[in-house]
Amino acid sequence: MDYQKILEEIHQEVLPLLDKGKVADYIPELANVDASKFGIHLLTLEDNAYSVGDVHEKFSIQSISKVFMLALTISHLGEKVYERVDVEPSGDPFNSLVQLEHECGIPRNPFINSGALVITDMMISSFEDPRTEFLEYVRDLVGHSEIFCNMKVAASEKQHGFKNAAMVNLMKSFGNIENDVEDVLDLYFEFCSIEMTCSELAKAFRVFANHGRGVIDTKKYITESQFKRITAIMQTCGFYDEAGEFAFRVGLPGKSGVGGGIAAILPDEYSIVTWSPGLNKKGNSLAGMKALELFTTKTGTSIF
Ligand code: DON
Repeated sequence: MDYQKILEEIHQEVLPLLDKGKVADYIPELANVDASKFGIHLLTLEDNAYSVGDVHEKFSIQSISKVFMLALTISHLGEKVYERVDVEPSGDPFNSLVQLEHECGIPRNPFINSGALVITDMMISSFEDPRTEFLEYVRDLVGHSEIFCNMKVAASEKQHGFKNAAMVNLMKSFGNIENDVEDVLDLYFEFCSIEMTCSELAKAFRVFANHGRGVIDTKKYITESQFKRITAIMQTCGFYDEAGEFAFRVGLPGKSGVGGGIAAILPDEYSIVTWSPGLNKKGNSLAGMKALELFTTKTGTSIF
């Protein structure tokens, strides 16, 4: 299959969509990003890479970070993680508070904000230096050390992160947050502010496509059972109240972020990452979703 040609065709087909989405502006620092950016990067398990567009430009990965947070935390704590966070799709926006109250402060899943905040709390309780450990983990997954948080983005989100603050406080009132509310929020905003390129994200996600084993370093990052669970949660919860739509149109497990990135995998075959900052109403990249739909359709590859 001529993957390069397919990616080039897709690029042309999504160009008219690039000015249709809306850049996330509830984090003021993200509002400055150029909406016309677009990148798509495909990386196979045989180590062939294909790309078009702005694939070597760093962007804010935001919620895509939640996959790394979950992977690192379950590799330390195992199954007991799921006692404090459920694994059901929420069908609600990523920053919704409504279910938390009548579900006793237990978030629906680790990929909505409330779930990732509980995971952050677990990391603070059980890691000696969660900041460093997390960054080192992501750097290992990517295979190099040029991965950093953008503290300007983290600070900008903190200034406006009232809903996330409300969630942590609500969960604390139910006893599902052990640490200081401010500490949990600060670390969570930092984790979301990590910047990566499409090609770096594709390298990190290829480890998940390879059942949790590094293709280059051959390290086993998560067990086979943890791989199955993380992939299942990506499939059912990776796109919030659009998880069904993403499965329907694209058919790959994946995760989006309000920075406009989407990372997806076809286990045993490839990882694929798109970046286009214009978002749809549900907070997922408009052109990114279309590009991935075109990719799985043109190549006839999906998990279904
Ligand atoms: O907490 C937030 O709202 C952001 N730091 C992350 C949200 C996000 O990326 C949701 N993605 N679609």
